[in-house]
Amino acid sequence: MEKTFYITTPIYYANTLPHLGHLYTTTVSDVVRRYKRQCGYDTYFLTGTDEHGINIQREAEKAGRSPKAQADFIAGEIQKMFAQFGLDPKNGGYDVFMRTTEPFHYEAAQNFWQAIASNKTPQGNETIYKDFYRAWFCAPCAEFKTETEYETPEGEDTPRCLIHERPLDRVEEESYFFKLSDYGETLLELIENNPDLIRPEARRKEIVSFVSGGLQDLSISREKKNVEWGIPVPGDDTHVMYVWMDALSNYITAIGYGNDERESVGFEKYWQNAVHFIGKDILRFHTVYWFSFLLAAGLPLPTCVFAHGMWLDPDGRKMSSTLGNGIDPNVLRKHFQTDSIRYFLLREMVFGSDGKFGYEGLIERVNSDLAKGLGNLSSRTLSMISKYRDGKVPDGTVSEENFIYAKRAGLSPDHEELAAVLEMARTEFVRHFDRYDFSLGLEGLWRVIARVDKMITESAPWNLVKDEKQTQTLNAVLYRAAETLRWLVVLLSPVMPAACDSIWKQIGLAGSPSDTDPNQLEWGGLEAGTTIGDTEPVFPRLDSSKIMEEINSANEIVEAEEQEFITIDDFIKVELRVGEVLEAENVPKSDKLLRCLVDVGDEHPRQILAGIAEHYRPEELVGKKIVVVYNLKPRMMMGLESQGMICAASLGKNDKPVVATFDEEVPNGARLT
Ligand code: MSP
Repeated sequence: MEKTFYITTPIYYANTLPHLGHLYTTTVSDVVRRYKRQCGYDTYFLTGTDEHGINIQREAEKAGRSPKAQADFIAGEIQKMFAQFGLDPKNGGYDVFMRTTEPFHYEAAQNFWQAIASNKTPQGNETIYKDFYRAWFCAPCAEFKTETEYETPEGEDTPRCLIHERPLDRVEEESYFFKLSDYGETLLELIENNPDLIRPEARRKEIVSFVSGGLQDLSISREKKNVEWGIPVPGDDTHVMYVWMDALSNYITAIGYGNDERESVGFEKYWQNAVHFIGKDILRFHTVYWFSFLLAAGLPLPTCVFAHGMWLDPDGRKMSSTLGNGIDPNVLRKHFQTDSIRYFLLREMVFGSDGKFGYEGLIERVNSDLAKGLGNLSSRTLSMISKYRDGKVPDGTVSEENFIYAKRAGLSPDHEELAAVLEMARTEFVRHFDRYDFSLGLEGLWRVIARVDKMITESAPWNLVKDEKQTQTLNAVLYRAAETLRWLVVLLSPVMPAACDSIWKQIGLAGSPSDTDPNQLEWGGLEAGTTIGDTEPVFPRLDSSKIMEEINSANEIVEAEEQEFITIDDFIKVELRVGEVLEAENVPKSDKLLRCLVDVGDEHPRQILAGIAEHYRPEELVGKKIVVVYNLKPRMMMGLESQGMICAASLGKNDKPVVATFDEEVPNGARLT
């Protein structure tokens, strides 16, 4: 049978704009898919958006649009971002962007439900039954609370919501239940017998212990009168499917399960070897629930669910849309090459563990590993071939009579030793990448770079060129460096496709390194006499202080590309409101930022940071009625969250901006249209 490999990312909620965390899973999956494709697998790569449920319904209400319009907007933004990072089909990225609001998915998810319902549990019970869902509900939050989200004060019976600190309401709602409690034993057996089913090991243990503690049946529907935005339960229009059941089934519906539209993708073919990359935050859904649903429907389990760690902010808090501490992909893209970001994401974080993100760390890695490491090896090798050998890769053989000279230059006379080092590095790299140990795999290649750099520095080609007797030694150094470079770009191509394509062409090779299977690499593949291409630096050195200043600057505005006219619908997306500045003060250590507390008509005033401190004293602003961009995504500046933006006329780079105000009395919170 053909080797197939199916890789999926979680489908992202269509309620907020994506941040680095979302980009991360799709980037890593993209690397793995390119790697597997290079190794000869028939691959399929799925990503997309999760578009139903109460949160999207609510977000849409807030934004004054329909849930579908909300989902269209966010799904569009995510696709745009993925394309900007080269993760779209045009750039060899994902095969399909799945959206759970697509009609074929409705049909297929319902078929999945019915397949489950038509079977019995291992104990011979009904898989799905109707009962009452009983839970604690917080009215101000308008949501059900789980055990970690409430506390029962001593001496009281009713728990209180941790956010609002008020007693919760007991709610009962009719619901369909899945007989999860009957699947514990089967799950444990499968997990025990397949050590790679859940990875890494710590996560596997976590699930084993959770399942061993006993499983509760799972509510898998909501009454339509309470949650409208979902897929109807087959045969009962008064209920919609639990959003996780709808979402998880995307992994099979997208490749043709239960529907004709996607049948041609090949469910049978790809589902036999499926790998789900997810964040550890959604592990239980992907193992306990998803595995049980699949078992109940009589379907095989995926090959592996790999739960990676979380990107944290410098204070160690998980980057999230709710906290507003997510790194904005637009800012990343403005300052860094896509390939540098890809390399950093794979090298910096041990896949499976948490990692702190800092721009300084990224700059440091780019400068040391890429500019000074790979980039420098490439440019010095190719420029020496150009200068000393007229742009043609020399034959690197050293004849016996020249051994003595090679040794004198500190070079081993034959290439065997270096070839063995490369073969070993390749074997290790493949082993690590097959296990998704990206950071270890990459580390090994940088040891090769250091070794070859040392070979060049110690043999000093710039001296060899002056001595005719050292012609073969010089040729050998140049050939070995160029051949190493060829191996490196083949191995690194899934991680940095554009940069590796560029180096490949600079070496003078045809096609792309992605066409060579890393397992097939053999020493000597680079033909002597190859004319090298035009050389150019692939990873210019980054100016750390300049970039940091730009990133920290309050005036960080990412110019929208291809900005032409906007439609009235676009304009409506921007919510402008009247605000009154209640307090203002300078932000410590910043010349530019003022921290303002602004009443925008809500229960609580908002903290907004404005980059006008050079032109306005804080007291000049207090009491002013101003214009606030109300629905701007919160972002962090100088460690403080800014929840909106104050509008001002900008009159040129060095002139004072003028804050927009009103001549007549207007109430706080009034919307500008
Ligand atoms: N819609 C569900 C998934 C359904 S899959 C059938 C969901 N969506 S999400 O948008 O909230 O998050 C999706 C994924 O984004 C997380 O599991 C994780 O992979 C990634 N991340 C979100 N924040 C992250 C970090 N701070 N760090 C790393 N990844 C993070 O859950």
